[in-house]
Amino acid sequence: MSQNILQLRDLEKIYPNGTHALKKLTLDIREGEFLVVIGLSGSGKSTLLRCLNRLIEPSGGSILFAGRDVTFLKGSELREYRRQIGMIFQQFNLIRRRSVLYNVLSGALGTMPVWQSILGRFPEELQQEAMRSLEIVGLKDKPLIRADALSGGQQQRVAIARSLMQKPRILLADEPVASLDPATSHSVMQYLERINKEFGTTIICNLHFLSLVRRYATRVVALKGGELVFEGNPHDIDEAWFKRIYGEDAIEVQID
Ligand SMILES: Nc1ncnc2c1ncn2[C@@H]1O[C@H](COP(=O)(O)OP(=O)(O)OP(=O)(O)O)[C@@H](O)[C@H]1O
Ligand SMILES: [Mg+2]
Repeated sequence: MSQNILQLRDLEKIYPNGTHALKKLTLDIREGEFLVVIGLSGSGKSTLLRCLNRLIEPSGGSILFAGRDVTFLKGSELREYRRQIGMIFQQFNLIRRRSVLYNVLSGALGTMPVWQSILGRFPEELQQEAMRSLEIVGLKDKPLIRADALSGGQQQRVAIARSLMQKPRILLADEPVASLDPATSHSVMQYLERINKEFGTTIICNLHFLSLVRRYATRVVALKGGELVFEGNPHDIDEAWFKRIYGEDAIEVQID
């Protein structure tokens, strides 16, 4: 039985405009799981992911990481915590005009002396590590291509390779395949699955399509209006649960 890597206790987020985006969320996340977060637009999925790495400050409750309270970390302790958590985004967030290799290397900037990062000089070991990361996502033949010359799926794989440079214990993915076609979506999801299985990296991923959820998640949680309304096995989301999560009028759309 693996240990809990994250424990959320009564986590709350109220934005300055009064929107109550997370309500008393209590959840344990086990090391090595592939957890998928689902829910309607506005249900709080992105807010949750961003609270986990403290990109957003929670308004209440607590977050424990490997048993340690990280809710109020600041300065260098916060940076050290964030280094253990990679993040990938729907829009990839690459530096479009720079090479694939440069983009991957930029994932290691936080670990380098400042003078080296200012000069953009990356030590040989890091360059080799970046090539290994590219190999993991099947792009080792593309290091010198400009990022914006790649397809969307390839760009997302570069973003995954970049996140691997942090050697994260947790990888957060906020709708990583929402801009991609179905076949490309599977390709990207399969690389996340491979990282999850080979390195034991905990994956926490927001997804919209239930067919992807059923294929990749080891566990799923559903949010509705900022509250946890389902927690369990992806195959247990039957018609009744689907309507409770997405509303009576919702119809499941298949992507294959
Ligand atoms: N910076 C912000 N300021 C105020 N309200 C916000 C902010 N960001 C999000 N919200 C609100 O908080 C709620 C949750 O938003 P969030 O982006 O977490 O939802 P989501 O589940 O990720 O939605 P989507 O599926 O559309 O990405 C929504 O009502 C949203 O309008
Ligand atoms: Mg979102």
